[in-house]
Amino acid sequence: MSTDSGGCFDTLAADTRWRIFTVEERRKVDAFVRRWKIKPGDRVLEPGCGAGRLTEVLAALTGPAGSVVAFDASPEFMRLTAQRALPPHVSLHTARVDALPLPPAFFDHVVCFNVFPHLTPLPETTRRLTAVLRPRGVFWIAHTRSQTFVNAVHREGPPEIHEHILPGPEELTRLLRDAGLGEIEIEDDAGFFLAHAVRLAPEVASVHPGNHV
Ligand SMILES: C[S@@+](CC[C@H](N)C(=O)[O-])C[C@H]1O[C@@H](n2cnc3c(N)ncnc32)[C@H](O)[C@@H]1O
Repeated sequence: MSTDSGGCFDTLAADTRWRIFTVEERRKVDAFVRRWKIKPGDRVLEPGCGAGRLTEVLAALTGPAGSVVAFDASPEFMRLTAQRALPPHVSLHTARVDALPLPPAFFDHVVCFNVFPHLTPLPETTRRLTAVLRPRGVFWIAHTRSQTFVNAVHREGPPEIHEHILPGPEELTRLLRDAGLGEIEIEDDAGFFLAHAVRLAPEVASVHPGNHV
């Protein structure tokens, strides 16, 4: 399994703000949860789980009848997630998104929480993560800040993440459609960002290859 040893994310793991939600963040997460509609028995993939603060929430939503596969490229972040003593229906992996073997057409939801712009190159990653969704499975991109805020933080952050840009609605819609996703809804508010897209059945996706906005 390939890992990202060190790097800016291992440094970020030392920042305790990534370990728990503030009251304001928790309010936003609760609003996301109402939108995600993850139910007992669902299978959820969480790329870039960081210190596992959302993983706990996802595990409670799926319950033991479901499962959560959470992974992160940073060994330091994964060390913190492992310390949470998550229930047995959660499996944890230290891996980059392009290196973790994943079953095709398996998950009900892929939840990219505060991570999507880092999963470069975005077109390849989006296709890869779409392929692990079952038909009608849902791809979520959620941020507890607006697109403008996220991109400003990345542009001012460590050089490794200067180019990690959350695309605007038009470009993101094209990216998601090109990966075989449809029913795309994007909300960019002053306080959060949420994108929803559904994996189309293969026959629908092939009738509309790269159906652009
Ligand atoms: C901003 S943090 C967010 C962590 C977590 N989702 C949260 O909100 O608490 C981004 C995370 O993505 C991980 N990451 C960045 N690039 C990645 C990649 N290519 N594959 C897997 N994880 C990655 C980082 O190690 C980091 O933990």
